Amino acid sequence: MSTDQPKGLLSTESYKGVRDFYPEDYYIHRWILETMRKACQSFGYTEYDASVLEPTELYTSKTSEEIINNQTYTFTDRGDRSVTLRPEMTPTVARMVAARWRDYPMPIRWFSIPNVFRYEKPQRGRLREHWQLNADMFGATGIEADVEMIALAAHVIKTFGATDSDFEIQINDRRLINATLEKIGATGEQHNALLFALDRKEKETSKDPAIASLMETYGTTIAPDEYLTQVMDALKRRGITNVRFSPYLVRGFAYYTGVVFEVFDTNPENRRSLFGGGRYDNLASAYTTQQIPAIGFGMGDVTIHDFLEIRNKLPAFKHPATVFIATTSPTVAAEAYNLATQFRDAGVYTSLNVTDKKIGDQIKYADKLGIPYVVVVGDDEVKNNTFVAKHLPTGNETPINRDDLTQFLQTP
Ligand code: HAM
Repeated sequence: MSTDQPKGLLSTESYKGVRDFYPEDYYIHRWILETMRKACQSFGYTEYDASVLEPTELYTSKTSEEIINNQTYTFTDRGDRSVTLRPEMTPTVARMVAARWRDYPMPIRWFSIPNVFRYEKPQRGRLREHWQLNADMFGATGIEADVEMIALAAHVIKTFGATDSDFEIQINDRRLINATLEKIGATGEQHNALLFALDRKEKETSKDPAIASLMETYGTTIAPDEYLTQVMDALKRRGITNVRFSPYLVRGFAYYTGVVFEVFDTNPENRRSLFGGGRYDNLASAYTTQQIPAIGFGMGDVTIHDFLEIRNKLPAFKHPATVFIATTSPTVAAEAYNLATQFRDAGVYTSLNVTDKKIGDQIKYADKLGIPYVVVVGDDEVKNNTFVAKHLPTGNETPINRDDLTQFLQTP
């Protein structure tokens, strides 16, 4: 549709970097979220939610201070409070768990599919609002917890119909990264600059020659330690073989303390990460003296959409109605409505004509919407109590008595 508007009219375009979901887009969007939901529930994770609005201090407190702060949407409310649209869910869920951990048996296994907002430059795979599946486990440390979380990520993507060769899981460990930086003699000051530079290695080389040279040394020094080797072996024994140690995988968030991982599409057209996550054992300690270790990941709807689109794995839009009731004249409108009620009460989703269009045009309307059946209601049909169910994709016409019609449409 053209977005050229005559002078004086408002633009019909949405805000930059966010999406309008027209019904055919929303159908796919809902399918994506529903698939994520089912995959998490099948691992016994339960769903939670929260508001998009958070006090800004949630992101400026020491534990979560990091690059994402440059990308937040922040404003002052009418009560002079600084408010931020959540750029991610992890600080929120850590806050929620810190407040109520006594009420739940540990480990807590939760998921949510919030929309999150980041002021990024909109481009392929990157928008300013996206929906992000977050699966997190609180109160468990050790190899089995770490393995379950990575296995869940693999399970989610497989639930979408992906096979092992479609994606690769890259892993690293913050403890190993830190130990390696220490080993190669990086000073405390250089430490954060190096983490930042490592995180951006794919995009650019550091302009600081000392940092660039330390990165070289880092690359030749780092090797998977015993723990990472055990994690990769454990995953292999569980049938997850497409895991690779990735020395430059750091993850941009300051809160990670252990294993970090990302899932990538193996198709070069979709280079953005599909998932990112890791262990963060200290984030909750901003809110409680109770030590609550945690591990989790986030998976965005945009990159998985691209992943599935490239592979022709997105579902085709399906109209919710099974049947459209066409009417020959206003005199049968009440009869038609009552027939619609009979269908709806039996769980047959029904759309009803409200116009004075000709029958042929009413049928065209139903066909364009993708509603598979049309039932015409006219004076004769009402009198004889017999209707014709027309199946639009095949053109088949079945005359049926009113009482049997509902059942016919229930099991078309
Ligand atoms: P993240 O790596 O920033 O991690 O985001 C996770 C995923 O969200 C990415 O892999 C990508 O699929 C998607 N994503 C991120 N930013 C955008 C964007 N601007 N447009 C579209 N998709 C995007 C986190 O947010 C962590 N809080 C995840 C986590 C949960 N760690 C532990 N628990």
